[in-house]
Amino acid sequence: MTLLQLFRWFDNTGIGQGIRGSTYWFPAIEVVHLLGLTLLYGAVLVVDLRVLGFGLSKQPVHRVAQQVTPYTILAIVMMLATGVPLFLSEALKCYENQAFWFKMGSLLLALVFQFTVHRKVVKSDQPPTAGMKAGAVFSMFLWLCVGLGGRAIAFV
Ligand code: HEM
Repeated sequence: MTLLQLFRWFDNTGIGQGIRGSTYWFPAIEVVHLLGLTLLYGAVLVVDLRVLGFGLSKQPVHRVAQQVTPYTILAIVMMLATGVPLFLSEALKCYENQAFWFKMGSLLLALVFQFTVHRKVVKSDQPPTAGMKAGAVFSMFLWLCVGLGGRAIAFV
């Protein structure tokens, strides 16, 4: 099966056809996608800005991260759970869309970074080093790329 055949199969799923055939399903799902985005960016910013010395500076980094991590995970689950049906409804459009591939590449990098390097950075009980601060800036950059890719899908 070629990648194009796979995307054609995604496009022809019952969910894909159902959303395409409805006036309200796509915008309704995209609103929840945007709510997840808001929660995700809020959670990422609270932790990464704390690493940079801004925001909840009275609490140590690992304490802030510990309290915020459940919201980050909830937001990522919301984005995946709403992103997949949005994708199924326009899989063939996404197949030819460079913004979609940029987004998926950034998303993979952001998720791997979030659950490997970034997890180590925010678990440390040391005062933030230059390396930890660079990790926080890179984390914000990766998630910004995912969002920009997502927004650009409709314009590319
Ligand atoms: C956590 C990760 C994600 C972020 C930050 C994100 C961000 C965004 C943003 C900002 C938009 C534009 C919303 C708008 O303009 O109204 C969007 C739309 C979209 N996203 Fe995501 N997204 C994520 C995950 C996913 C996943 C996993 C998929 C698919 C597998 C996906 C598929 C889509 C699609 C198909 C659209 C609609 C594009 C269009 O307007 O035609 N997203 N996303």
